[in-house]
Amino acid sequence: MNRRTILASAILLATYACATAPNVRSPLGAYLSPNAKTGPTVPLRVDPNARVILSGAAGLPAAQFLASQATRGAAIYSRTCDTCHGAGTLVGATFVQSWNNRRVYDLYAVVRSTMPLDNPGGLKDGEYLDVVAYLLQANKQQTDRPDSLKSDTLSMRGTRIAVSAP
Ligand code: HEC
Repeated sequence: MNRRTILASAILLATYACATAPNVRSPLGAYLSPNAKTGPTVPLRVDPNARVILSGAAGLPAAQFLASQATRGAAIYSRTCDTCHGAGTLVGATFVQSWNNRRVYDLYAVVRSTMPLDNPGGLKDGEYLDVVAYLLQANKQQTDRPDSLKSDTLSMRGTRIAVSAP
């Protein structure tokens, strides 16, 4: 076999492999369909230590909330979240490290779509807001001119978590 035939059979094999397993996804979520026109195969180097980099939002104003929201949130938290997140697991240095300078929307979205783990999305919208306000307060969010935390995504995306370890 000359080089050309080897290359051609390699491509055929690859096409066959794709046709039988069309759901092969690269780490970036790209999708190679069975009839995609691909060039010669290129060795893929996947970095096993790659991490998704969450966009920082250090330049945004700090998110604001009302003390009444945080108070309601504390009650919801102890009823609903404390069973799994007891003894300040979401309050303190670890929370600050993972969430400081991130958009408040990111936290709200994570909590609202995945928590409580045994009933994701099970709380009312307002209750999620209250819980987020409580988490901000408990982690000492800067509040220079308290205003209510609203589920309006524009304002949530435009404000950041500005917490410091208690
Ligand atoms: C049945 C158990 C359970 C309940 C109830 C629960 N959680 Fe979680 N939660 C988890 C687990 C498990 C994780 C993932 C573990 C981790 O990464 O810390 C998690 C992760 C989180 C995270 C992400 C932590 C991070 O910084 O990555 C947040 C925020 C959170 N939960 C908030 C809440 C809130 C608010 C409630 C109540 C409305 C709640 N959880 C109820 C089990 C639970």
